[in-house]
Amino acid sequence: SAGKAPAGAGEKEPVVVLVIGMAGSGKTTLMQRFNSYLHSKDTPPYILNLDPAVSHMPYAANIDIRDTVDYKEVMTQYNLGPNGGIMTALNLFTTKFDQVLGFVEKRAQDVDYVLVDTPGQIEIFTWSASGAIITDAIASSLPTVVAYVIDTPRTTSPATFMSNMLYACSILYKTRLPFILVFNKVDVEPHDFALEWMEDFEKFQAALAERGRDENGENYMNSLMGSMCLVLEEFYNSLRAVGVSAMTGQGMKEFFAAVDDAHKEYNTDY
Ligand code: GTP
Repeated sequence: SAGKAPAGAGEKEPVVVLVIGMAGSGKTTLMQRFNSYLHSKDTPPYILNLDPAVSHMPYAANIDIRDTVDYKEVMTQYNLGPNGGIMTALNLFTTKFDQVLGFVEKRAQDVDYVLVDTPGQIEIFTWSASGAIITDAIASSLPTVVAYVIDTPRTTSPATFMSNMLYACSILYKTRLPFILVFNKVDVEPHDFALEWMEDFEKFQAALAERGRDENGENYMNSLMGSMCLVLEEFYNSLRAVGVSAMTGQGMKEFFAAVDDAHKEYNTDY
């Protein structure tokens, strides 16, 4: 689909990792961990920050939206609230994205990975015209994979898990890019339960039934979720899942193995 022909012999082609996730899932901390891991492997990444509102960035980005637009000024100038300000800042940046891509392409020969951090409020990127334009521009220029970051300890309830998976599923079908589910914070909560639910929907339904009793017999939600999990089976089959901890660095090797694997798939299937 959106892919580019594979690089010719001897030509090095990096893979772009679009880091997407709900607010607080740990995107920024994870970016820092990816960055230091890749430095330790002698393959420093090229980093793009698309979050205009990040206040503290523990790593240096090669290209930072905050150098181009100040979302607080945008808020004042256009009389907007914080989300409108962030959205408009992203729109303004999108008008210059061809230049940004030019910089990335110039460095493409020297790096293995281009990491892209996205705005904290996920829908600002995933449900905006700018987000779609930026994603398409990147993906038509270089092989691109989506790393969907999940706050594992906050996803242990079956209903929350299902909502998060449906959201991930909508992003997969919207972008049609190779997809990696990144279960973050496994230092607090291992992601085994999630793998179990993804592998065997009967186990998920059993968990749902059990929790349903705890939650005052809210059965409507449960039957909806029960049928949804059949829909998600196909989704689960088309992605990779890894457990990581941005805090301890656990799972970095597995994550980049999944990225490399998705990159290979990109060159053969897309
Ligand atoms: P936004 O700023 O809303 O975009 O959030 P974010 O997704 O960038 O998350 P951020 O990196 O700011 O992390 C959110 C909180 O989770 C912080 O308090 C982090 O310290 C914490 N956190 C991130 N990763 C981990 C992890 O692997 N383990 C633990 N225990 N905490 C983590």
